[in-house]
Amino acid sequence: MRSKNELWIGYAVAVICLLVGVFCYSILPAKPPESPLRVMFSGMGGNVLFHHQTHIADYGLACKDCHHSVIGSPTDTPDSCESCHLKESVYTPALGKNGVFDHPAHSEDYGLNCSDCHHTYAEGDSGEPEACGTCHNPESEDGSMLGRVDAFHKQCIECHEASGVTPGGSDCAECHKPRPRKDAFHDQCMNCHEDSGAGPGRADCTTCHGY
Ligand code: HEC
Ligand code: HEC
Ligand code: HEC
Ligand code: HEC
Ligand code: HEC
Ligand code: HEC
Ligand code: HEC
Ligand code: HEC
Repeated sequence: MRSKNELWIGYAVAVICLLVGVFCYSILPAKPPESPLRVMFSGMGGNVLFHHQTHIADYGLACKDCHHSVIGSPTDTPDSCESCHLKESVYTPALGKNGVFDHPAHSEDYGLNCSDCHHTYAEGDSGEPEACGTCHNPESEDGSMLGRVDAFHKQCIECHEASGVTPGGSDCAECHKPRPRKDAFHDQCMNCHEDSGAGPGRADCTTCHGY
């Protein structure tokens, strides 16, 4: 008798859960919650269903592993990737051969000293300043030493904001135009999967596409 009652209660709960689930599933896309359960991307490649909550709770990832942003505080609601990585965006690096950073203008025209940036070097020292990355290397992002990207962001943006010039911290695209939407997703999803040896890799198109 008792087990039959429990069975009925079980069925009732299951039916209620199903109804609530279907109801929520149908209204949620219209107004995303603080952190979506899952995200459905639809495009020419076939839809992709991304289990957002599973990636956070079960795979132990931090928000900033995916929602990278230089100045945003960790408690801010992140912007959608598409707000920066537009479909037609053309990637331009900040430094390097085709980068927007104009070293001659900064070192000769803006009234700055070498040591304003090369802070371990003083004019008159023998030799040339070392590249920032020899000390601030990507592996040093452990808190004791600023990593390469953080070192650049901090130095470039702090000086601009202190001198009242643009680009400031939120003018991302004036220092480097973000890669287009498809590459942003593919690079982020697949680089992490391949680095951690888990989840679909580059060749597994249909594991993600085709919903
Ligand atoms: C880890 C999951 C994943 C894998 C594996 C994957 N993709 Fe994607 N792909 C995505 C996501 C997410 C998007 C972004 C969808 C959007 O634009 O909204 C996307 C976007 C695309 C787009 C652009 C769609 C549009 O409308 O612009 C194409 C085309 C595409 N993928 C093709 C492929 C091909 C071909 C492969 C295999 C060689 C592949 N993808 C592997 C997740 C994946
Ligand atoms: C594995 C990567 C990943 C992790 C980890 C992650 N997110 Fe996301 N999140 C995404 C992707 C991808 C989207 C879809 C963005 C889009 O459609 O442009 C998204 C969308 C969102 C959105 C909706 C944004 C919008 O306007 O479309 C919010 C809010 C959000 N995430 C919050 C969080 C919070 C809070 C955390 C940490 C608790 C977190 N996310 C962790 C990848 C991630
Ligand atoms: C506030 C603007 C902004 C938002 C929001 C943003 N990005 Fe970016 N992202 C950039 C800029 C600027 C760069 C540097 C230029 C580049 O490498 O494309 C970048 C770089 C990247 C890179 C290459 C560097 C790296 O970290 O591996 C990937 C991949 C990427 N973004 C994916 C994403 C995804 C996926 C989302 C959403 C979860 C997202 N981005 C949200 C602006 C943004
Ligand atoms: C506004 C900041 C700034 C100023 C001012 C500046 N530099 Fe630089 N310099 C940089 C940055 C950023 C790089 C790229 C470093 C990297 O890629 O790690 C660089 C690279 C260099 C490099 C190449 C280092 C290498 O091995 O890749 C040399 C040499 C150099 N600067 C010399 C100078 C000299 C000499 C002055 C003064 C006349 C000067 N710089 C002024 C920011 C600056
Ligand atoms: C010879 C090694 C070395 C080189 C080269 C170097 N740094 Fe540093 N940098 C350090 C050390 C050590 C610190 C102090 C530890 C810390 O704060 O991470 C530091 C601190 C910083 C800080 C934080 C300062 C603050 O205000 O808190 C920034 C920003 C920075 N470096 C940017 C750069 C940039 C950009 C370059 C290249 C133009 C550069 N560094 C070249 C070793 C170096
Ligand atoms: C010590 C101060 C200082 C630092 C550090 C600095 N800048 Fe600048 N930057 C300036 C000043 C001053 C201007 C404005 C020149 C003007 O408009 O007259 C400027 C202008 C710019 C501009 C617009 C004009 C141009 O030269 O193209 C860009 C882009 C730029 N900086 C990028 C960067 C990047 C990237 C870094 C870091 C690698 C950086 N800056 C580091 C002082 C600095
Ligand atoms: C004042 C110039 C400046 C601004 C503004 C700026 N960045 Fe950067 N960013 C840099 C520099 C310099 C690097 C190091 C570039 C390199 O390695 O060639 C960098 C690197 C990055 C990287 C690593 C990219 C890679 O390819 O390794 C990301 C991601 C990024 N920035 C995102 C952002 C976002 C998001 C914003 C806006 C919220 C932003 N940046 C604003 C100068 C800037
Ligand atoms: C920072 C790391 C990271 C990023 C970024 C990331 N993933 Fe994953 N993903 C994982 C890990 C870890 C697993 C776990 C696989 C396992 O445990 O078998 C996984 C598993 C998956 C799986 C298979 C299991 C499941 O949950 O469905 C899919 C599909 C997937 N990811 C899609 C995506 C898509 C689409 C994106 C980009 C929007 C993305 N992932 C971004 C780390 C990441």
